[in-house]
Amino acid sequence: MTFVVTENCIKCKYTDCVEVCPVDCFHEGPNFLVIDPDECIDCTLCEPECPVEAIFSEEELPNGQEQFKQINAELAKSWPVITEKKPAPPDAKEWEGKPDKAKLLEK
Ligand code: SF4
Ligand code: F3S
Repeated sequence: MTFVVTENCIKCKYTDCVEVCPVDCFHEGPNFLVIDPDECIDCTLCEPECPVEAIFSEEELPNGQEQFKQINAELAKSWPVITEKKPAPPDAKEWEGKPDKAKLLEK
């Protein structure tokens, strides 16, 4: 099993999640983070840390978010690891909970 970062992280990218991961499995892209499913040990620590509730167990992905399992697995292969919190984008607040952000994902 693994945890998965979903759509609501896009353009919010608060990075609180990376501080608690014991195995450094978060990878950073331009406006989104992903979890490497081969490294995640299902410890659950990151899930409550995300202020916009973007992280779910792969078994509890909300309807319409299933594609993000594959997206996390693919992008984790090429994006660099991130282990320390950094400032969120200046307009992060405006993007919280906005629908249809998937098309804005920058790879
Ligand atoms: Fe890291 Fe644990 Fe979250 Fe997996 S569940 S990404 S191991 S903090
Ligand atoms: Fe994204 Fe939430 Fe982490 S917005 S960067 S999953 S804290």
